Amino acid sequence: MRASAFKVTGGPEVLRLVDLPDPEPGPGEILIRVAYAGVNYGEIQHRLGDFGEPDGETVTGLEASGRVAALGEGVTGVSIGDPVTAYLPDGGGYAEYAVAPAAFTFPLAGAPAVRLPDGFDGRAGDSDRPQGGFAPVASALPLPDGFEGRTSDSDRRPAGFAPSTGGPGLAPSAVDRLPDGSDRRPDGLDLRTAGGAALVLTTAYGVLAGAARIAPGDTVLVHAAAGGVGGAAAQLARALGATEVYGTVGTPEKAEYARRSFGYDEVFAREGFPEAVLAATSGRGVDIVLDPVGGPTRLASFEVLAPFGRLAVYGEAARHPDLQLPVLPIWKNNRTLTGYNIGDLARRAPATVRAHGLSALALAASGAVRIDVTEEYALADAAEAHRLLGEGRNRGKVVLAVDQTSPSGV
Ligand SMILES: NC(=O)c1ccc[n+]([C@@H]2O[C@H](COP(=O)([O-])OP(=O)(O)OC[C@H]3O[C@@H](n4cnc5c(N)ncnc54)[C@H](OP(=O)(O)O)[C@@H]3O)[C@@H](O)[C@H]2O)c1
Repeated sequence: MRASAFKVTGGPEVLRLVDLPDPEPGPGEILIRVAYAGVNYGEIQHRLGDFGEPDGETVTGLEASGRVAALGEGVTGVSIGDPVTAYLPDGGGYAEYAVAPAAFTFPLAGAPAVRLPDGFDGRAGDSDRPQGGFAPVASALPLPDGFEGRTSDSDRRPAGFAPSTGGPGLAPSAVDRLPDGSDRRPDGLDLRTAGGAALVLTTAYGVLAGAARIAPGDTVLVHAAAGGVGGAAAQLARALGATEVYGTVGTPEKAEYARRSFGYDEVFAREGFPEAVLAATSGRGVDIVLDPVGGPTRLASFEVLAPFGRLAVYGEAARHPDLQLPVLPIWKNNRTLTGYNIGDLARRAPATVRAHGLSALALAASGAVRIDVTEEYALADAAEAHRLLGEGRNRGKVVLAVDQTSPSGV
């Protein structure tokens, strides 16, 4: 098969088109003939060596859409040729064929839900303990009659402190079902859009519902607001009950784009954002900050985090991994610093990742959340796509067009 691969770390130029043997699906895996692969910041980090040195030709690519080409042992519920979208925790999307775990493969319109192999219970080999903050809060203490968990300085429920309903996608009984009992399936996505959906939607949903424990009435600030995860997060926050959603971006053009495309109330320049956010919120700040940028942006985020607020960190786009954060602003006002890493969660709690993916893709299929594909590159031009993202010039979602010999309208 043709693949865009690298065997040394470095700049975009290390990505080259090569011929590699077709991969084979193992037990519980699905082989996908890739139609489109999403391009993500995580793949820039992979290429730069943040995830370790490559061992021979390495194919990155954390999400893809396409058609089922072969089924590994124990996989049922999908057929050869079915259109699917998949999160690829081990990469491999920048190629004509990719192998995806069945648990993270989501059939598109018309196909039945993938049935998971017997014994799949969402627990990984190295942990049989509940994932605090990500698992449902099923046994919260009952409150005295009349006590609604409200504070004197706020008429809003301090999420994370009051009993949680679990939130969409968090209750185990809801794993594969919508509230009306129907299967959760991303029926409304075409292959091009679906190529850039599985990682960003699952991540955005996981950060909001899992790490940040979003509750109806929360206000949210999204850094890198015009990007793939950012654009999805803004819309998902709204769908999960946020009343105000703000963003920050690197350039004025992106602010206008993000406002128009993703329904933000306001989008501010990253430079000087605390003043702007405090002015927009009458000095209160926001309940949730989503921060994949890091560095000075992370530090300044405490200035706009309301009491009971959650600062959810999930990336280092600004590349300041050694940032020191003060603890005082956290405990003084009952704030939470919380983290999210989909790769780690996929290893330790795959059922949680699957539930988040299903919930988010269902919202995308319903039209409540829109993936805006703004750029499409050929597989051979993956390096160009990496230049765009690596320099922060991207908006919305960038995809690689890999193979459109199958009809893309699904
Ligand atoms: N933890 C997880 O599980 C997980 C999963 C997926 C993604 N992520 C993280 O989420 C973030 C967004 O990912 P994405 O794929 O959707 O990318 P993206 O947001 O579409 O693109 C990255 C954006 O980061 C911003 N940025 C800030 N400082 C930058 C710098 N020094 N160089 C380049 N870009 C910079 C830029 O937006 P501005 O111009 O607005 O600054 C850029 O457009 C990334 O940090 C990624 O690592 C984490």
